[in-house]
Amino acid sequence: MGSRIGVGLLGLGTVGGGVASILLSPDERHPLVADLDLVRVAVRDLDRPRPVDLSADQLTKDPEAVVNDPSVDVVVEVIGGIEPARSLILKAISNGKSVVTANKAVIARHGREIADAAAAAGVYVLIEAAVGGGIPIIEPLKQSLGGNRINRVSGIINGTTNYILTRMATEGVAYDDVIAEAQRLGYAEADPAADVDGLDAADKIAILAALAFGGAIDRSGVPTEGISSLQGRDVEYASQLGYGVKLLAVAERMTDQGATDVLPLSLRVQPTLVPTDHPLAGVNGVNNAILVEGDPIGRVMFYGPGAGAGPTASAVVADILNIAGVRHASEAAGRLDPLLAADSWRQCKLVDPGDVRQKHYVRFHTSDTPGVIGRIGSCFGDRDVSIQSIVQFRANEAGAEIVVITHDVTQKQMDDALKEIQSMPEISGMAAHLGCL
Ligand code: NDP
Ligand code: HSE
Repeated sequence: MGSRIGVGLLGLGTVGGGVASILLSPDERHPLVADLDLVRVAVRDLDRPRPVDLSADQLTKDPEAVVNDPSVDVVVEVIGGIEPARSLILKAISNGKSVVTANKAVIARHGREIADAAAAAGVYVLIEAAVGGGIPIIEPLKQSLGGNRINRVSGIINGTTNYILTRMATEGVAYDDVIAEAQRLGYAEADPAADVDGLDAADKIAILAALAFGGAIDRSGVPTEGISSLQGRDVEYASQLGYGVKLLAVAERMTDQGATDVLPLSLRVQPTLVPTDHPLAGVNGVNNAILVEGDPIGRVMFYGPGAGAGPTASAVVADILNIAGVRHASEAAGRLDPLLAADSWRQCKLVDPGDVRQKHYVRFHTSDTPGVIGRIGSCFGDRDVSIQSIVQFRANEAGAEIVVITHDVTQKQMDDALKEIQSMPEISGMAAHLGCL
């Protein structure tokens, strides 16, 4: 689509491996992905097995070789921790390279220093992956919600603890076993205490608050309580009272006044009872959700997978593409940023609806005669329609209702079976036919 963009990767672990996998398989993604060249990758251990094939020239143990490589345009920092991550980011910036990072620990503590350096060098530092894993929340706060006066940002922003709380609540699995599983799945931080003690969520709410309210946040001043001392008994009592327990992070404006020189804010991270009918109560497993409340938009919720290789890599690559798009636009005078312009690059056509597979829900009025469920089942089976459930309701002298939910079948298969079933003498009609997820 345009000139090549050299990408240098610092780290090839959970997130770095996910990023490399996307960059090395551009088919069926936005065409700009094919313009990204994975030039150099720094790791600690050259002998560790990797999820992608890289040449000996691409891999290095020296991260400086990545940030100093003239063919690298964008440095992706996914090694984690404060140092050497901070120094490598600053070095990349001083070399005129834009940076993409998933490292909330470094941004929450050194974000101002890094942003100032980037502004002075005229490069970008993008951090979509630092909060909410695969959920787009950073760019929406910076761009799509910019017309609002934000009053509150709150939510579940640590995937590991939400995964632990969900498994404990639904399966009664022991705390230590679930942490080990979260580590195995690549959700947890290098030191999982950062997750369970609430420190990671505190980093993230500090970053969200800085964007939402427009001022740097003193990360060390965020009251933080994790889930390590939460008792199962409290989760059980909360449940009997109609609540779930979630590790919530909250940042809210503490004044109704308009313009103030210093905006008072409250930030906190703590285990919190959430009514079961609240939108955050249904956010389970590794999923995260962030509620943004602003004027005039009201309340919007961003929801999705909050950790893990694929979702986080999706956010990292989105940032690389944004930088690539802006660069293409500035290189070619008169050409629009291809991402903002949302160009189409192919034609699309609609398929025959009869070929579309989905689950179906059907309800029949029948006579309450022996064997009717079997005959309906056989008729579906003869047409290769697999049944998920078949249940009889309200059987009496006047008849019965039989509800069938199928597995995925084509509309044509379904129509054939329904035609046959409705011609059966014991079927008085089809009362409902709905799609089903
Ligand atoms: P991993 O521990 O899986 O990967 C870290 C990678 O960095 C490894 O490849 C490691 O090399 C390499 N590395 C570490 N130190 C150095 C160094 N000094 N020089 C060269 N390479 C180094 O971490 P994750 O991928 O899980 O996390 C990376 C970052 O992304 C962290 O900031 C984390 O907070 C953040 N993040 C993680 C998410 C997740 O779901 N895992 C989600 C969102 C953000 P080697 O492989 O040889 O050991
Ligand atoms: N350890 C983090 C979490 C990774 O579980 O949410 C995503 O930032």
